Amino acid sequence: MTISTPSGIPEGVKKADFVHALFNAIAKRYDLLNDCISFGMHRKWKQEAVSRLNLQAGDAALDVCTGTGDLLSLLLKTVGTTGSVTGLDFSEEMLAVAQQRYASFVQAKNPALTLVQGDAMALPFADNTFNAGIVSFGLRNVTTVETAVAELVRVVKPGGIVLNLDTCPQVLLPGFDIYFSKVMPFFGKLLAGNQSAYQYLQASSKNFLTPEALQHLFTQCGLETVTVKRTGFGSVAMVYGIKGG
Ligand SMILES: C[S@@+](CC[C@H](N)C(=O)[O-])C[C@H]1O[C@@H](n2cnc3c(N)ncnc32)[C@H](O)[C@@H]1O
Repeated sequence: MTISTPSGIPEGVKKADFVHALFNAIAKRYDLLNDCISFGMHRKWKQEAVSRLNLQAGDAALDVCTGTGDLLSLLLKTVGTTGSVTGLDFSEEMLAVAQQRYASFVQAKNPALTLVQGDAMALPFADNTFNAGIVSFGLRNVTTVETAVAELVRVVKPGGIVLNLDTCPQVLLPGFDIYFSKVMPFFGKLLAGNQSAYQYLQASSKNFLTPEALQHLFTQCGLETVTVKRTGFGSVAMVYGIKGG
């Protein structure tokens, strides 16, 4: 199916419903697709993002929009056996892949790994629960980015880091536009049998906040020393700050 709206979402369909159905549909192929569309680079970006969270052994870490839980292994390694890691997502199919992937951790509780089905815009956690919170390739999928950022800041302890890793709407490297508009949807169709998923991915990336706009939003939401670090030839950015108070 070809979707021609600027958002990549069919007319009259709520964004949350579209995104939820889309990730449920591609869950089993998501990791393979991710490797193909980023040429495996997402692994390096995720490692760098986790290293910027300043987590210590024994800490509690939160991964919002965890999907198949790609980041969870990095967080588990960082907080060690005395720490705890929570992954939250609203797609039950993405979480089912994560559940299978981390079955031994979920059972052993050493370190404690909890997978939660929930909404990034209404996190089911008390204020000041986590030492750090991260979102990777998730924020641009939520209906109201401001609400999701405010929620993430709310549940992180003062002094803790909140970090977003995502693609940038304006890519500095020539040729990336063709890559996003032609190559990525082609991979999507080939591997997932779902070209509309990757048309949406391209549109959501183009329509997402610039790193500088997100930096401003982070500051408005109570984060201090908010920093932007671009990588992947400027195609990806980490925006992160420290919760004040
Ligand atoms: C592109 S995937 C990213 C998965 C993972 N973080 C990664 O980096 O590979 C985006 C994820 O965000 C989830 N998502 C989108 N909107 C959400 C919301 N409002 N609440 C919770 N999860 C949401 C989707 O279900 C999907 O699993």
